[in-house]
Amino acid sequence: MGNVVFVAKEITGDETRVAASVETVKKMIGLGLDVVVEAGAGAKSKIPDAEFEAVGARIGSVGAAATADVVLKVRRPTEEDIGGYKSGAIVIAVMDPYGNDEAVAAMAKAGLSSFAMELMPRITRAQSMDVLSSQANLAGYQAVIEAAAVYDRAMPMMMTAAGTVPAAKVFVMGAGVAGLQAIATARRLGAAVSATDVRPAAKEQVASLGAKFIAVEDEEFKAAETAGGYAKEMSREYQAKQAALVAEHIAKQDIVITTALIPGRPAPKLVSREMLKSMKPGAVAVDLAVERGGNIEGVKPGKVADVDGVRVIGFPNMAGRIAASASQLYAKNLVTFLETMVNKETKTIALNLEDELIKATMLTHAGNVVHPAFGGAKKGTTDGW
Ligand code: NAI
Repeated sequence: MGNVVFVAKEITGDETRVAASVETVKKMIGLGLDVVVEAGAGAKSKIPDAEFEAVGARIGSVGAAATADVVLKVRRPTEEDIGGYKSGAIVIAVMDPYGNDEAVAAMAKAGLSSFAMELMPRITRAQSMDVLSSQANLAGYQAVIEAAAVYDRAMPMMMTAAGTVPAAKVFVMGAGVAGLQAIATARRLGAAVSATDVRPAAKEQVASLGAKFIAVEDEEFKAAETAGGYAKEMSREYQAKQAALVAEHIAKQDIVITTALIPGRPAPKLVSREMLKSMKPGAVAVDLAVERGGNIEGVKPGKVADVDGVRVIGFPNMAGRIAASASQLYAKNLVTFLETMVNKETKTIALNLEDELIKATMLTHAGNVVHPAFGGAKKGTTDGW
């Protein structure tokens, strides 16, 4: 038997996703790995144990984690989880390391080689391992579905014998992966869509999806992108100008969807209570940045809250609300990364510490925190993340 891969059942919060799919289990077994899936791990993603078993996985209890060379997860393991892993095991998950130094240190202390999927570099080779993109894409889609479900009017313009229903006006703030999918989804539903972003590259992408681009396009805007393609935190002056433009625009909108993030920083505050107050009766807002503090003032995590007359949807883990699809894509991202760690001849796991993907994502190894952004030895720069 080859190296053991353990697919954990998620126990953190209300996580619905799972780190393997039938397809990826098949793939891992093909690579010579021995796959153990924790009983019930796929249930919330609509993958019964029997489907994993049918492609060759063993179903095990949580105790089977102790035999694993590799643990695949969605969320960072808890202290309790860690206690059940063997020293030297590889753990791959979305680790949420920013501001969680203690949890990272605990993984180092346990001797784990831990990898944060969200730190995967955005280079061509790693595109199929990019969990931020795969999950944000589904979150953007789901945000529109949730908004449409709460909105008491139709999204598309409808011309009927009984009169015309106007198209909903949807404004998307932040046109990254989630925002672009939200734009595309709202357009498919027939809404009149506009969008804003602080990165100049977003302008063309928004236009190509048939939405109107709204932004303060000054010198700062023209320079507001890191080498990694992410947003920078904007100056106070820019934020004030942006807020004025947005305030005027938002008053005419039916639905606002915010997706604005800056890596490693709290989410920028973009929609104030004043702005919500100015919106039309029946207006709906969705805050996809709620887990990082939110873009909308008054957003309540996990709730549809009435904030100054606007129903503000603050569901964390939006991708988890479309779990079957999210798990399918997440699992594929994971297995593609894991495959780079498998020696094809010996069919065993061998970490190449010089590989750029390993270097970028490895948080802890051999008892130490190794990542420079989280207290590991300083190497190069972390700009772009
Ligand atoms: P993100 O999740 O970090 O942020 C979402 C969006 O919010 C970004 O577009 C950002 O510019 C925007 N934003 C930040 N502050 C804002 C503010 N004050 N007002 C309005 N918008 C604000 O970004 P995400 O979705 O991860 O994408 C970032 C970029 O990376 C995009 O251009 C995307 O197309 C690109 N990308 C490149 C990949 C590759 O080369 N392999 C893969 C995935 C994304």
